[in-house]
Amino acid sequence: MTNLLEARDIWFSYDGRNYIIKGISMTIGSGRMYMIFGRSGVGKTTLLKLFKGILKPVRGEIRYKERTIINNAQVRRDSYSAIGYIPQGFGVINNLTVLDNVIVGALSRVSTLSSLIGRFPEHEVKKAEEILRMLKIHDLCYTKVSRISGGQRQRVAIARALMQNPEIILADEFISQLDPVTSLEVLNDFKRLAEQRKIGVVITTHDIQLAPSYADEVLVMRGGEIVFRAVHGMIDERDLVSAMR
Ligand SMILES: Nc1ncnc2c1ncn2[C@@H]1O[C@H](COP(=O)(O)OP(=O)(O)O)[C@@H](O)[C@H]1O
Ligand SMILES: [Mg+2]
Repeated sequence: MTNLLEARDIWFSYDGRNYIIKGISMTIGSGRMYMIFGRSGVGKTTLLKLFKGILKPVRGEIRYKERTIINNAQVRRDSYSAIGYIPQGFGVINNLTVLDNVIVGALSRVSTLSSLIGRFPEHEVKKAEEILRMLKIHDLCYTKVSRISGGQRQRVAIARALMQNPEIILADEFISQLDPVTSLEVLNDFKRLAEQRKIGVVITTHDIQLAPSYADEVLVMRGGEIVFRAVHGMIDERDLVSAMR
């Protein structure tokens, strides 16, 4: 495993008074899956946004391959291309087809001009189709996203993130909106693809029962801090619940 991303003592406040993230440090390694748990409002979404560079920390830094990419003063471009982000609610565009939604994921790599006029290179389209095939929704290529199920939308969001060739994927409330059977199917397929491509994955979710078998590492947040960590083989659901209280 190679360390890809490292948060060092990051602090964050929306209003300059109350700290929402209080001195969090964590390392994301290639091909590993991290699950972050915690009750609503503890700062999980905020933490992912800091990792992606959507928010800037007040203090501390985020390093990518030993180089500072995000701190109080700057957000370097590396964070856009290397880090895929799947927001809560998937961030898919209802009016577009499945294929178009996925191709949008190439925007960070393909020149903006050619993409805006809707003329994607043929190999990008092929790549999108290939990813959709691996995620088992290839038959929906030309269906509008407004007409597909929640599980299929989650797959579209994953496909779009993969289209970026990311080294890391951050997924907020991953599979939280799906029924238990669909959740498992989506998680299995996602985990397999991420491992094949050595992508480090960080998800926030409420499905603690999945942690022992799927997570390489779990972290529990409370009040803007990480109050509990455990690695695969040492993960017990009861510990997670008591750490969240
Ligand atoms: N844009 C914002 N402006 C001000 N406060 C916010 C904003 N987003 C979230 N918060 C506050 O930050 C805290 C953490 O929120 P969030 O990161 O969304 O938690 P979680 O994802 O764990 O539910 C909450 O108290 C929330 O109200
Ligand atoms: Mg959240």
